[in-house]
Formats: sequence, structure tokens, C-alpha cells
Amino acid sequence: MNRGVRIIKELSRREIVRETLHAIAGSPCRCPAHSSGILNSSIPPRHRQTSSDSITTDYAYETFSPSVRIGKGATREVGMDFVNKGVKRVLLFTDKNLIKLLPFKATADALRADNVEFDVFSEVRIEPTEKSFREAIHRAQMRQYEGFLAVGGGSVMDTAKVARLFDAYPEKDFFDFVNKPVGKGEPIFKQLKPLICIPTTSGTGSETTGVAICQMESINAKTGFSNRALCANLAIVDPLNALSMPKNVAIYSGFDVLCHALESFTNIRYDNRSPKPLNPLHRPQHQGANPISDIWAVETLKIINDNFLGSIESLFDQESSAQMSFASLLAGIGFSSSGVHLCHAISFALSGSVKDYCPSDYSNDHPIIPHGLSVVMTAPAVFKEVALVAPDRCIQLAGLIGANTNNIKTEDAGRCLSDQLCKIMNRLEIPNGLKSLGFSPEDIPMLVEKTLPQERITRLYPNKVTSSLLERILLNSMTVYN
Ligand SMILES: NC(=O)c1ccc[n+]([C@@H]2O[C@H](COP(=O)([O-])OP(=O)(O)OC[C@H]3O[C@@H](n4cnc5c(N)ncnc54)[C@H](O)[C@@H]3O)[C@@H](O)[C@H]2O)c1
Ligand SMILES: [Fe+2]
Repeated sequence: MNRGVRIIKELSRREIVRETLHAIAGSPCRCPAHSSGILNSSIPPRHRQTSSDSITTDYAYETFSPSVRIGKGATREVGMDFVNKGVKRVLLFTDKNLIKLLPFKATADALRADNVEFDVFSEVRIEPTEKSFREAIHRAQMRQYEGFLAVGGGSVMDTAKVARLFDAYPEKDFFDFVNKPVGKGEPIFKQLKPLICIPTTSGTGSETTGVAICQMESINAKTGFSNRALCANLAIVDPLNALSMPKNVAIYSGFDVLCHALESFTNIRYDNRSPKPLNPLHRPQHQGANPISDIWAVETLKIINDNFLGSIESLFDQESSAQMSFASLLAGIGFSSSGVHLCHAISFALSGSVKDYCPSDYSNDHPIIPHGLSVVMTAPAVFKEVALVAPDRCIQLAGLIGANTNNIKTEDAGRCLSDQLCKIMNRLEIPNGLKSLGFSPEDIPMLVEKTLPQERITRLYPNKVTSSLLERILLNSMTVYN
């Protein structure tokens, strides 16, 4: 038996033993009952007796994703897609940078070729806010559209998702659908009009998810909308659209993909999560790591390992860039069912507390910490902590992103994964820690306070999330490498 097969068998054996012990001991309640709209549905539960009724943790998981079309040049089909859906008038969302570039031009040409009438909303804010979401909602309600189209990165796609939601619910208040506890997290029952997403970054995977994120001015942190109903009807992943990404956009969105996969793979397992829903409608969108999300995460990391550096460092390496578009999609499909954990939860506090950081390659009309940058900043410290409870998984992850894991002991798992992350961050010249984004140790209590309510995400961390855990991670992230 070769070493690789032996390691995989050993890992599976250890996981089975751990899970059996866990099931015998009963697991702590990590109640997700205050999260997504679906979970908090007012539909009365219908409970059927099953053999697993005495166990309080979940026993099943559910995956979903939109139709996905992948192909160089596939943008040209989008006019036909709307015609095929019987849609003749759409509102096209993009941003004021992209409207000048090829992805927008290719889309507009495709719509014109098939006589699909369209208006353009190019005022999408990069890293959207409650205010910018409201402006987009207002614009969508000014005219009757039959469908919606997003051409852009996560900022554009998330904005289109929310505008389309309130097109169906003009009578509702913005906070009716915002995640609890900031909003009411109400369920979405109406059929929304068709939405097609054409991503232009290789990062968020928003084209596959039922999530839309914005900066909430009222709490100075990010949160948003999370409900499967928000998911697009079709994602067109055309690698040609990502070729014009500026260097920092490609780097930071690539780190977003990397963290989606790392966090998805190390989430609490779906069958360690409580409570087991009494009605499948109440099973949350993000259910923890599961065998299907694991497949997407592992594949994503293999692609990243082979292509991330090449896609950045070798200009005109179209094949690596196309592979990164694919990785972004795979990671998105994976975390759509499993979710993400602490790097993302903390990133929402960091981005929401930006001081005067204005990265190059982003539209510089307001300070922002780009999403992928805010996420990866704490990753080395987060995974040192994760390794204390999931060392085998962390060793596997370190190997997948290029570390030599021969003879790595369990107690060195965190250091191994963290060092490998720092190596990649250093090579791509990521700013060195939270200090370089303008934060100091005095900001830690404020950042902890803003992270703790992100319960929708923190509950997926594989261990209890405490203030002292967050303080340690933030302190260790002030400077990332020497
Ligand atoms: N819905 C989800 O599941 C999800 C997941 C992760 C992140 N997000 C959100 O997505 C947002 C970040 O999105 P993003 O990282 O994709 O970037 P973005 O949409 O914020 O765009 C970043 C910059 O890159 C430019 N750009 C994008 N594509 C380009 C291209 N092909 N050529 C030239 N310039 C291009 C934009 O004009 C902008 O200046 C954040 O608000 C984040 O919270 C959403
Ligand atoms: Fe992300």
C-alpha cells in the first residue's frame, strides 16, 4: 500500500472513531435556530417519526446550486437565455469600471443580438452598503422588468440579488429579510423573476450562492441576506471575462476562493450540528462540512495549488486564469451547503470598521478593505486554532496547498498549514497583517464585539467561539509574517 493510501485510510479511521465517541457523548447544542430565513420559516413543522428521533444532531444534509454554464465566450448566449425564458426586458447591473470593459460589451452585444431590451444600472458600489442596496432596489422598482442580469464581481451580483428580491416584495421593509439578529430573517415564499449572473472576478462564488452581503451602517459591520431563494437561475462562467482583472483584484479574490475551500472543509460537520430540523424546510442553508462539500473543497484546492501563482505571475497565462474561474465556481457550490467560518466572520467586522485604507486597483472613491484581503488576513491565525480540534484535516489541507506534510505530527498541524498560507501570502505580497490595514491592538475589543453577533457564520466553527479565542486570533494577525 503506498503512503498516500495509508494516510487516507488512517485519517478515515480516526474520523470514524472520533465521530463514534462524539455520538456516544452527545454533542453540545450549537443552536442555529437564529439564522437564515428558511430556518426561521413560519410554516408549521410536520414531524415524521424516524429511527434517529432520539438524536438531537442533524443526520442529513442538502445541497443546491443554480444551472451553471462554463465556457470561453459563453457570454454570447445570454440574450438567447432570456428569450428562452420568455424575458424581453431586463435590468442589467454592473459597476462604473466594468461598463467600460469587455465583459459588459460582450453582454450588451449578446442582448442586442437577440432583441432583448435592457436598461443599465452601473452605480453598484464596490463593497456594497445598505444605502447602495437601497438605491439599487429603488432603481429596479422604477420600471417593470421581466428579468435581471448581473455582470461583475460579488458586489454587482449581490446587489442584483437584493434588487430582484424587493422587486417581488415592494411592500416589505429592507430589514424584513436581513439575517437575524440584525433583521427579521423572514422566509421568502414568492417566486422571484429570472436572474442570470455572469461573474467577472474569480472569487466570491456569488453566482452560485443564496447570499448577498452589505455593510450595514446601523451596526458598522457587514451582514446581509441569506436564503436559497436568492440564488440565480443561471450562472454563466466565461473565463474570458476575468482576464481584465487588475492584479490586486485577482490576488485578493483568489484568496477568497482559497479561504472558502479551507473553511468549508473545516466547518463543524453537518451531523454534529444541532438541532435536527423537524421539517426539512427548516434545515439551514449552511449546514456544515459534508461529503459533497468536501469534494468541492478538495478539488478547489488542487486547482488553486496548480494555478493561483501562475495566474498572477505569468501575464497572459489564460489557462491558469480560466482554471481560477473554475475553482471559484467549485468553491462556491461547496460552501453553498457547508458555509464558511471564522475568517469570514471576522472579515465582516474588519471590512465594516475600515478607517482610511484605499488599496490600489480598486475604485478609490471610498476607503475599503477588499473582501478577499479581509478574509485571508486572519487565516494563518484561525487555522492554528482550528488545528487544535481538527489536526488531521489541517494536515490534509496543508498538503493540498503545497506543504510537505511528510512526518508532520498532529501537534504541528496548525503551524504547518499556517506557515504554508503565509508563504503564499508573502509571495503574492499581501499587506503584512492588520496593522498594515490601519488597525492596532486597541481595536481588538471593538472587532470582537462586531464578530460575536455573526452567529450565522460563527456557529459553523468546529469549536466554541469565545471572546478570548477571537482576541487571540486578532492579536496574532496584527503582523502575519516576519
Ligand atoms: N454572495 C456571496 O456568496 C459572497 C461571497 C463572498 C463575498 N461576497 C461579497 O462580494 C464582494 C466582493 O466581490 P469581488 O471580490 O468579486 O469584487 P468586486 O465586485 O467588489 O470588484 C472589485 C473591483 O474589481 C473590478 N473588477 C471586477 N471584475 C473585473 C474585471 N474582469 N476586469 C476589471 N476590473 C474588474 C471592479 O470594478 C471593482 O473595482 C464583497 O462585498 C463581498 O462581501 C459575496
Ligand atoms: Fe468570501
